[in-house]
Amino acid sequence: MQKILVVDDAELNREMLCDMLEEDYRVELAQDGYQAMEKLQEDQGGLAALLLDLHMPGMDGFAVIDSMREHGWMKHIPVLIISSELSTEVETHCFELGVSDFIHRPFERSIVKNRVKNAVELFVYKNQLEQKVEEQAETLERQSRIIQIQAEKLREAEPFHRLMMEYQAAIMEVETRLKVLNAEFSQEYNRNPFESIKSRLKSPASIYEKLERKGYPITVESIREHLTDVAGLRVICSFPDDIYRLAELFTCQDDILLVREKDYIRNPKPNGYRSLHHIVSVPIFLSGGKKYMKVEVQFRTIAMDFWASVEHKLKYKRNVDNAEEIVGQLRACADSIEMLDHQMQKIRDRIDRSKG
Ligand code: GTP
Ligand code: MG
Repeated sequence: MQKILVVDDAELNREMLCDMLEEDYRVELAQDGYQAMEKLQEDQGGLAALLLDLHMPGMDGFAVIDSMREHGWMKHIPVLIISSELSTEVETHCFELGVSDFIHRPFERSIVKNRVKNAVELFVYKNQLEQKVEEQAETLERQSRIIQIQAEKLREAEPFHRLMMEYQAAIMEVETRLKVLNAEFSQEYNRNPFESIKSRLKSPASIYEKLERKGYPITVESIREHLTDVAGLRVICSFPDDIYRLAELFTCQDDILLVREKDYIRNPKPNGYRSLHHIVSVPIFLSGGKKYMKVEVQFRTIAMDFWASVEHKLKYKRNVDNAEEIVGQLRACADSIEMLDHQMQKIRDRIDRSKG
């Protein structure tokens, strides 16, 4: 049963109204504004209607209306004035304050019941409608937020694909230049400085992981700025001195910038890893003009590559039995490989010289 509150300082009025309405509602009574506010507070604006006398000692009906307006309750609770006040100005003022209706004395049962019923029903309908509108507005806002996020992702995705295309172009550029040098060598000296070239574009997951690990933002600009190994080439040479000759010929090309060199051949890693790493900045030519891209080029001999691929397997395998012993064996192999590479190179040089 819906609850209504009757506020009047005259006991007789309270009882009359209670008698008329208790058939349809749970009727609460208050004899002044203070009691009315207490009950309103208890219900937190959950009343179906408020029947309010205007003239009461202490806190009067106008003060109750003021306080209800402050709480925003007038929007949700119909207020019906039960005062004997008949002045048109006062009634008009009350309507301006948001009062729903007037019930004049002497109270007539059917009029009281119908006025209260109308007001209650109207507000139930109005409140439901408002709630629906509010829910729809919330849903709309949620949807628009989702669309916004997806649009951002899409905007992010498009430049990401474009950046990957540019790195791929840089790989092709480097590969072509190295192949040109190879072709020239084979023409001039009847031998190839490199055996093969492998290339790879770093995977999105790997890019994401590296940026995250290093604490950089996950954005296209951040990839360009902080990662140097998105485009990677591995040049596999037969002999160590070919590595330096090829790397030198490549990096001295006048539009190529050597950003960083890590020479793990002259300064092997403690585990025995040997390779020459160059981070280079190479131009690619797009419809909009020239653009420089960073590429990581690793130069190594066939034997060094063989070693690195076996060692790589160990690095990414967990719980390997006797791992320390294997590390030692790998280091020993790396040393043997260095010796082997140099012995092979010496043999080749002797063959070359004897030919001449
Ligand atoms: P990354 O974050 O792994 O790229 O290393 P880095 O930025 O310190 O650069 P570095 O030049 O040391 O290594 C670049 C790449 O060389 C690695 O991603 C590997 O492909 C290869 N590399 C470096 N050290 C080793 C090693 O000890 N063993 C093997 N198998 N490969 C290595
Ligand atoms: Mg790397």
